[in-house]
Amino acid sequence: MLRTIFLLSLLFSLSNASVQDFCVANLKRAETPAGYPCIRPIHVKAKDFVFSLGIPGNTTNIISAAVTPGFSAQFPGLNGLGLSTARLDLAPKGVIPMHTHPGASEVLFVLDGYITAGFVSSANSVYVQTLKPGQVMVFPQGLLHFQINAGKSPAAAFVTFSSASPGLQILDFALFANSLPTELVSATTFLDPALVKKLKGVLGGTG
Ligand SMILES: *[C@@H]1O[C@H](CO)[C@@H](O)[C@H](O)[C@H]1NC(C)=O
Repeated sequence: MLRTIFLLSLLFSLSNASVQDFCVANLKRAETPAGYPCIRPIHVKAKDFVFSLGIPGNTTNIISAAVTPGFSAQFPGLNGLGLSTARLDLAPKGVIPMHTHPGASEVLFVLDGYITAGFVSSANSVYVQTLKPGQVMVFPQGLLHFQINAGKSPAAAFVTFSSASPGLQILDFALFANSLPTELVSATTFLDPALVKKLKGVLGGTG
C-alpha cells in the first residue's frame, strides 16, 4: 500500500514537472535571476521560438569583432530553458580577447572563414585549434578562452551557452579598464607599471 502511494506520488510529481513546456519571456516585466516571468500560453506564437542571427554585426571597433546576442531579452522563447545563443563576427585581424563565462560552457560552430580558438585549463594546459566552416569547438565553463580570425576574409560563427546568463569577464578589461591603482595592478600581475599605464590609457582605465 505504502509502495503504491509512493509510486503514485512519484508519477504525479513527474507529470506535474512536465506540465510547463516553456516560459516565453514577458519582456514588459523585469528580468529576475530566474529569468523573465512567462507570458500566458494562449499568447505564445511560433515566432517566439525563432530568432534571426543572419545579419553580421558591426565590426568597426577596436577589436574588429562583434557579438550579436540571442538571449531571452532578444529571443523570448529561450527564457527558462537554461540556454542562450549569439552570433560572432570577426573582420580580418578581428579578435575576441581572452575572456571567461563564469556561468556557462560554450559551443562554437563556424559558419564562414577560419577562426583560431583556444582555452586554458585550470592546470594551465593550452588547447588551441584553427577551425574551418562546419567545425564545432566546446569551451568548458569558467575557463579563459579567445577567438581570432585566422584568415584574410571575414569569419562568422554561432555560439550557444549552457545557461541563460553565461556572464562575461574580459581579462584585459578586468585588469586595465577600471580604477584599480597602477601600483596594485603592477604588483599583482608582475607587469611593468609603464605598460599598465599604457593599457589603462587604451582601455579607459584610471589610476
Ligand atoms: C559601424 O560602427 C561604426 C563605428 O561605431 C559606425 O561609424 C558605422 O556607421 C557603423 N556601420 C553600420 C553599417 O552601422
